[in-house]
Amino acid sequence: MKVPFYDATREYAGYKTEFDEAIASVIASGAFILGKQAGDFEEAVKAYTGAKYVAGVANGSDALVIASDILGYGNGAEVITPAFTFFASASCIARLGGRPVFCDVDEDTFCMDMGDAEKRITKNTKGIIPVHLFLQPADMTACMGLAEKHRLTVLEDAAEAFGMKSRYKGGYVHSGVIGDFGVFSFFPTKTLGGYGDGGMLITNNEELYAKAKSYRVHGSSVRYHHDYIGYNSRLDTLQAAILRVKLAHIDAAIKKRAQHAAQYRELLQDVPAVKLPVIKGYAGEVYYVFCLQAENRDGLDRYLKEKGIGVSVYYPIPLHLQKCFEYLGHRKGDFPVAEKLCGKALALPMFPELTEDEVSYVCESIKDFYGR
Ligand SMILES: Cc1ncc(COP(=O)(O)O)c(C=O)c1O
Repeated sequence: MKVPFYDATREYAGYKTEFDEAIASVIASGAFILGKQAGDFEEAVKAYTGAKYVAGVANGSDALVIASDILGYGNGAEVITPAFTFFASASCIARLGGRPVFCDVDEDTFCMDMGDAEKRITKNTKGIIPVHLFLQPADMTACMGLAEKHRLTVLEDAAEAFGMKSRYKGGYVHSGVIGDFGVFSFFPTKTLGGYGDGGMLITNNEELYAKAKSYRVHGSSVRYHHDYIGYNSRLDTLQAAILRVKLAHIDAAIKKRAQHAAQYRELLQDVPAVKLPVIKGYAGEVYYVFCLQAENRDGLDRYLKEKGIGVSVYYPIPLHLQKCFEYLGHRKGDFPVAEKLCGKALALPMFPELTEDEVSYVCESIKDFYGR
């Protein structure tokens, strides 16, 4: 049996008519960039997330850079971001001349350790980028507490977090909606993923939204009149039309992911060599990624791949040890939890159309590797 890490073709086969009609409608309209379907998709995301304002852009990394630019995370400003995350959560700061200040993460949740984050705040700190990684948000109550206490802005990297919620001020709030800005990525593997790149900024702040809308079209709100030095980063209409089809089915897709996670948990609960993901009480989780912490992770990774199982190491090198960040002067040992996770984390196949037999095969193979 072969089990892919991710397979978009099964979902396409399931909703083929809807996808084909959506794509044809864009081609027939002749409007390929921020066309009607992009506006319709933005409205649908607002309704789903509860965000007051959203602006579709070309990808999640651009969304992070644009939000960082608007929030002033450049020119020497210090911004706190986790050492264990995807590169874009830190490059958005460095790209603008800001200083990424790494902090360690929580071993259970993979997300920012807010206690460690607070220790790294100085008079130059401007903002904080909590990243909602794999299956649950960072602790946003603690994060907003820090922001208020130290007068910082908050940019939620919700690239992986479509559908995830946080218990916040007595209710559940969608990821990305609590901070000053949130960003989503619609990279194909994401819980809400397109058939190419896509991204979005979300905010409840009208002024920030007006800037975001302008920054994505070269800083102009009236054509050929430029108020800011912005970007060329627009959501492709074809992607928006595809994403709107997927958004209509997202609750069913999230439910299926949860069912696979439950099956993984049941079949792997007695394997002492693997630690299963731990979910905190504040989190409304969504299984974008099902990530184990495994003994002899590299051996398991090789073994599962030999057995035809698509697994993925998220992330092999913590950000403070990346070559491009040598200038920040970090050494091995600076962020022990992030470093430990880089040696242990292994993501198993996870997408809605996985079958029970495939999940069983993955778990049996893991048990075989550890000699049962
Ligand atoms: C945590 C995180 N931040 C940012 C990004 C960047 O998103 P994109 O790939 O759409 O540029 C990703 C996704 O790849 C991500 O996982």
